Amino acid sequence: MRIVARDVSVLHDRGFPDERAAVNGITLSIDRGESVAIAGPTGSGKTSLLEVLAGLAKPTSGTVALEGSDGELRSAVGLVYQFPELQFFEESVLDEVAFGLRHQGAAEDEIPGIVGRALERAGLNPDLFLERSPLSLSSGEQRRAALACMIALDRPFLLLDEPSAGLDPAMRERLVEFMLSMLEEGRGLVLVTHDLELAGLVTGRMIVLSEGRIVADAVPDSIFRDAALLERLSLDPPPKYWLVNRVKSLAASKVPELERLLLPSVGPHLADVGRR
Ligand SMILES: Nc1ncnc2c1ncn2[C@@H]1O[C@H](COP(=O)(O)OP(=O)(O)OP(=O)(O)O)[C@@H](O)[C@H]1O
Ligand SMILES: [Mg+2]
Repeated sequence: MRIVARDVSVLHDRGFPDERAAVNGITLSIDRGESVAIAGPTGSGKTSLLEVLAGLAKPTSGTVALEGSDGELRSAVGLVYQFPELQFFEESVLDEVAFGLRHQGAAEDEIPGIVGRALERAGLNPDLFLERSPLSLSSGEQRRAALACMIALDRPFLLLDEPSAGLDPAMRERLVEFMLSMLEEGRGLVLVTHDLELAGLVTGRMIVLSEGRIVADAVPDSIFRDAALLERLSLDPPPKYWLVNRVKSLAASKVPELERLLLPSVGPHLADVGRR
């Protein structure tokens, strides 16, 4: 089973003077079981692409289809939005997570159990959160509640738009474990993120967008080593790659700069301590 996009373009504000292509002739295929990161600067079209890959928006031109299955694209994909608070409208977390399940035709007596397990997997204690209003949650908790909505639907593809935004390091770690468990279950994962370190931990393929076009599609390691590409698009690689790239770019004659970079000015401080 795979999601296949062929020559897809998305134009916002079509026909208006400020009409612009958010997605510009993209062709790509994502297999079930594959883990793909989509990176790129702000406004490069990541969210617009995700919405058409999820079947939630129609491309202005081109096609997106689910291949290798008789099912519909929309029911094979769960999308967790970049700003989950905008999607909440129920009065309790229970009803919010149950909403999609009911729509999908789940039996009413099974719903509480499915919702509880989904919340736990998303990192929210059901005892504490089931009855809370979704709008009263912190932004990190809202992100997890939105994740629970999609876990409950149990779909073969999970698309996450900036899921680590606003999470503390412990929650980010849980998110990594959660994404890896989704992959172990054989699902397809698409992760849109500015957090390239996170992408490197959980994905085996990275697509880089610029102005709605794919400018790189490769293993994360090779993209992290491409200092020119990263610099051009103002993307920060994981810290260890940043250091390696920086050192490589310094000519031997720039040893003082190398020293400044690698040896922060603790020397005088240590000497002071020694004199005391
Ligand atoms: N609903 C909309 N109406 C008009 N223009 C839009 C709309 N949504 C997005 N755009 C425009 O399309 C382009 C791509 O936006 P998109 O949200 O897909 O980018 P992004 O890569 O997800 O950015 P970010 O990293 O900030 O989330 C931008 O120029 C944006 O202003
Ligand atoms: Mg976005």
